[in-house]
Amino acid sequence: MSSKITVIGAGSVGSTIAYTLSNQNVASEIVLIDINKEKVEGEVMDIAQGTCFRDPISIIAGEYEDAKDSDIVIITSGIARKPGQTRIELTQTNVNILKSITPEIVKVAPHALYIIVSNPVDIMTYIFTKISGLPENQIIGSGTILDSARLRCGLSEHLNVAQNNIHAYVFGEHGDTSFIPWTGAYVSGVSLDEYYDIAKSMGKEVKEVDKDAMLEYVQKSGGQIIKRKGATFYAVSASVCKLCSILSASSDSITTVSSMMHGEYGIDDVCLSTLTLVGPNGIQGKVPMRMNKKEIEQLHKSADALKAVIAQIDL
Ligand code: 2OP
Repeated sequence: MSSKITVIGAGSVGSTIAYTLSNQNVASEIVLIDINKEKVEGEVMDIAQGTCFRDPISIIAGEYEDAKDSDIVIITSGIARKPGQTRIELTQTNVNILKSITPEIVKVAPHALYIIVSNPVDIMTYIFTKISGLPENQIIGSGTILDSARLRCGLSEHLNVAQNNIHAYVFGEHGDTSFIPWTGAYVSGVSLDEYYDIAKSMGKEVKEVDKDAMLEYVQKSGGQIIKRKGATFYAVSASVCKLCSILSASSDSITTVSSMMHGEYGIDDVCLSTLTLVGPNGIQGKVPMRMNKKEIEQLHKSADALKAVIAQIDL
């Protein structure tokens, strides 16, 4: 199915999402919106001029009214993280930006599925849920879909097994309190802990994963990339485009995205990532993966950290 997709914010992330979508078959129409008209026009010209090599697609630099009838709206607006800055430090500025955008876009696209990407994404997803007046199933925070992608990448390199055979996830906040529930880490149908012996029996040299180092690699990747090149945008865009194809598919998928908690694992009234069933009708619910006591505690720690930030926000 081909969709009309609106991307709000033509910074590095929004523009790269539009560009990535222009190379795929998820969208038939892309609308890119930004308050900086010159920038958004430049981005759209640059993207559109590369599209003669694919099936026809419409890409425009638009106003909010052009988002009418969008199937998906992606919100990327906000100030990006600077080197050394935490995602949380961005909070009030980006919440204020979100508050100005929300009524404008919701008015013209009340039936769209919304993907919130702006950081700190779990807080922004929560605020958007509170102020948009939209049904919760329509609101998906990109959450730890990127962190889980980083984990798959790291594990795949360590084990020398293709990323699509790695089933392992990052839960909680997209940020400093995220964690890896290793109980649910599998290589194809085999648990990670069992896999080492299997690899050894085939003569492969596979060292056990240093779990603390792997979590640090996942948590620090964003900061490491920002330190080196000033921003992160390719992997987050690939993750968001994958989400768009999930939302446009005929069946549901299970992935780690941020959405409102309603008592799952004993957690309420906060948005964070755990396994979530999501598809053409948006969020269908959290999939209760078995975790050990320590992992459940880590999820609570992440929820508490997010709630502490929410309590400080000036709405
Ligand atoms: C990332 O993790 C900065 O949140 C962004 O790449």
